[in-house]
Amino acid sequence: MSDVLARLAELQRADLPTHGGRTLAYVYDSGLAEVDRVGREAVAAFAATNGLDPTAFPSTLLMENEVVGSTADLLDAPATCVGTVTSGGTESVLLAVQGARDSRPDLVEAGVRPRLVVPSTIHAAFHKAAHYFGLDLVVVPVGADFRADVAATRAAVEADPGRTVLVAVSAPSYAHGVVDPVTEVAAIAAEHGIRCHVDACIGGWVLPYAARLGRDVPPWSFAVDGVTSISVDLHKYAYTPKGASVLLHRTPELRRAQLFACADWPGYTMLNSTLQSTKSGGPLAGAWAVLRSIGDAGYLDLTRQVLDGVDRLVAGIEALPALRVVAPPDSTLVAVATDDTCDVFTLVDELGLVGWLAQPQMRYGDQPATLHLSLSAATAPLVDELLDALATAVATAVARGPVAVDPAVVEFVEALDPGALGDDDFDGLLAAVGMEAGADGPALPERMAEVNALLDLASPALREALLGAFLDRLARPTRA
Ligand SMILES: Cc1ncc(COP(=O)(O)O)c(C=O)c1O
Repeated sequence: MSDVLARLAELQRADLPTHGGRTLAYVYDSGLAEVDRVGREAVAAFAATNGLDPTAFPSTLLMENEVVGSTADLLDAPATCVGTVTSGGTESVLLAVQGARDSRPDLVEAGVRPRLVVPSTIHAAFHKAAHYFGLDLVVVPVGADFRADVAATRAAVEADPGRTVLVAVSAPSYAHGVVDPVTEVAAIAAEHGIRCHVDACIGGWVLPYAARLGRDVPPWSFAVDGVTSISVDLHKYAYTPKGASVLLHRTPELRRAQLFACADWPGYTMLNSTLQSTKSGGPLAGAWAVLRSIGDAGYLDLTRQVLDGVDRLVAGIEALPALRVVAPPDSTLVAVATDDTCDVFTLVDELGLVGWLAQPQMRYGDQPATLHLSLSAATAPLVDELLDALATAVATAVARGPVAVDPAVVEFVEALDPGALGDDDFDGLLAAVGMEAGADGPALPERMAEVNALLDLASPALREALLGAFLDRLARPTRA
């Protein structure tokens, strides 16, 4: 049996580090080893507990109600507020959209597609929700400050208010780290009796503490009239183990359509508040344990640390001539653009080679590709080191020059119709970027700059098709 665990440890060594503060996307590290240990033990202790039936496992009900209560306290929620612990931000968003849709059965029964109005910076989870639940996604371009454009949002809502079931905004947006004008957008929604969801998946555990630290935080919580629901991930800045988010509704009535019961089959009557039915008690217990271990004063301190780190990072980046912070961050996320001398994808590769994971963000409309950095409390003491790594990586990227994509390839890629591509075409395209499928599936080149440069040239639809084909080839069973 120890062999099995040794093998798992070996597999883990190929992964990005989850701790240490140098992985600037995917993971969030408090830097508190003892808290992490408590979280892990709680996950393990409740791994087999089934949250499907809170009467059979009352521990799950108690933990969920306490976690939701703590979240409601943090988010200025009224006494009427109710909530649900979900498996993550995407599930919280999916349920907010599903609930909004199903609160309007008249539309669905009349065969009319409900509308969901969002700024272009909203998280991709809303695209997924619209796709899964058959809503028309109305994407409104943002202003020059990367925040939702209030006038354009009003126009989009008023183009068809009767069919609009939800307006959503971010606090803050993932790509640029800024908070949308929640007060104004929620007022527009309320004027028309439409729900307004605030996606605070990534900022919801930071912004309340930032405000208490005296920082200028735009209003975004339930204190804003017209906000009907909010999503907050615990597995991000509450630093809990993966698999925990909270979806809050201002009233039980707003949550009703989210609850699903099925008695019309020969087995047990199924009753769910989430997409999952059987669900491990592990992530919930891990979240409950970490929230209690860190506590209010602990989160205030972690937020002070990480925001001080963000300030120092932003100042240091502004001092590097080839780099520019895209928008002054309202929270812990920093988007960085490069000038013409420095290829952004080469910069990502160079940082990776010295142990810093930064995430590339492809161009969008007329906005250039950027580098995304999500800071954690554990990153804060390392900011000087990160700035040194950035300065060195910039110098190397400038020296290497721009990634040259053959103009013929550019022309070829731009002419491709993703809908018309078959498996052979995808195999050819993956091989062309050095990712041909071997016995173990497609290989990733050590340097991704050329692949990213090519993807950056492709339309979003082609990028989606190519990446789908890539994942399809990666995810193949390992057989004996
Ligand atoms: C603003 C926002 N919403 C939703 C999500 C989706 O969360 P998850 O990856 O936990 O499903 C994220 C993830 O980064 C996010 O930043």
